[in-house]
Amino acid sequence: MIRAAELIQRKRDGGELTAEELRELVLAFVRGDVPDYQMAAFCMAVYFRGLSPAETFALTEAMIASGQTIDLHGAIGRTVVDKHSTGGVGDKTSLAVGPIVAACGVPFGKMSGRGLGHTGGTLDKLESIPGFRVELSADEFIAQVRDVGLAIIGQTGDLVPADKLLYGLRDVTATVENVSLIASSIMSKKIAAGADAIVLDVKVGDGAFMKTLEDARALAEAMLELGRRADRRVVCVLTDMDQPLGRAVGNALEVRETIETLRGEGPPDFSELVLGASAHLLVLSDLGIDEDEARERAAAAVQDGSALEAYERWVRAQGGDPAEAALPTSQVVREIAAPKDGYVQGLGAIAVGMAALHLGAGRRTKADTIDYAVGVRCLKKRGDPVAAGEPIAEVHARDETAAAEAADEVLAAYAFGAEQPARRAIVLETIA
Ligand code: URA
Repeated sequence: MIRAAELIQRKRDGGELTAEELRELVLAFVRGDVPDYQMAAFCMAVYFRGLSPAETFALTEAMIASGQTIDLHGAIGRTVVDKHSTGGVGDKTSLAVGPIVAACGVPFGKMSGRGLGHTGGTLDKLESIPGFRVELSADEFIAQVRDVGLAIIGQTGDLVPADKLLYGLRDVTATVENVSLIASSIMSKKIAAGADAIVLDVKVGDGAFMKTLEDARALAEAMLELGRRADRRVVCVLTDMDQPLGRAVGNALEVRETIETLRGEGPPDFSELVLGASAHLLVLSDLGIDEDEARERAAAAVQDGSALEAYERWVRAQGGDPAEAALPTSQVVREIAAPKDGYVQGLGAIAVGMAALHLGAGRRTKADTIDYAVGVRCLKKRGDPVAAGEPIAEVHARDETAAAEAADEVLAAYAFGAEQPARRAIVLETIA
């Protein structure tokens, strides 16, 4: 019989729990033997007291043990790579990285989530492609990674059920923002999904969970430590989320921007992040190449069209139509003009994400339906010069009223000034 109250009390008082105790607690919670109110109290105790590295690993292992795991390496006989982002605005990186890596001959298998609030989810972006199926079984997932070299699917129901329950509880008990809880939540899913090598994109700034570089470093270190203990090769990139990534925010708009990027015509910040993340994955793979060679191969896959071909093969394999013309478009496209001459000093990621959400590109509650066509295109970003009257952004909307409201929100997200702000690289730090 699990003594949940005793474990909560010990953690509340700053004590340490054993791996066995954490495992019992998590498994009893998933079975329904530990009620939500006790698990919520436990999460709050962890929020204030933290977990040691050994406890964080034990929690991660317990969450993995709550469900099914996939042995991609065993099934495919190759090093399989994966990437994950802690979530941001305009973040379609996986959609471009997967095809580039696959075009370079490295199998890429990823399980993704849906968006909630101002950050979009990879699955929602993929579902804006007509016909695209995100719900494959574990066997179909493995077969596609083996035969096509690339699969991105929704998390199968049996994978880390403890995280689904725990995240739902943390979300409504103000206990999401704890490094150990975030690290174990992310890494349990990555480890259970079976890739050998993982690039973790930790977003930093206004539109991210981690508002400061210091907090982002702490999360990156915690995830690297979990990767080491689980025998996975992990690289963390800390990337700027003070402004949206690339130009497009909104599902079909982001898929279109992915296709442009795979053609070599993407926005500079997004293209840089995509090539950098792809190169890290190629280095971690079984190709046996160094960083310079990996960057060259990733860039060549874009230049010679093989990355775009890999994208098309992948989308077809999951039932989708890869043609850009097949993507949904909005009835109304409204341009927003610069109010004066000067430079863009800043562009709030959350504010643009919220404008896209209000247009219908995201969900406020899990039950909301998404309008795949709507969103925002930020034509000018931090550091860009602007002339009064010049278009700085576009709002793609269902009707004129929604367009007018979103246009006001997007304009308010921009800050202008007379001086050009210093350029900031998209990748702020890399930790391995
Ligand atoms: N993403 C996750 O998957 N889990 C967290 O706890 C936070 C972000």
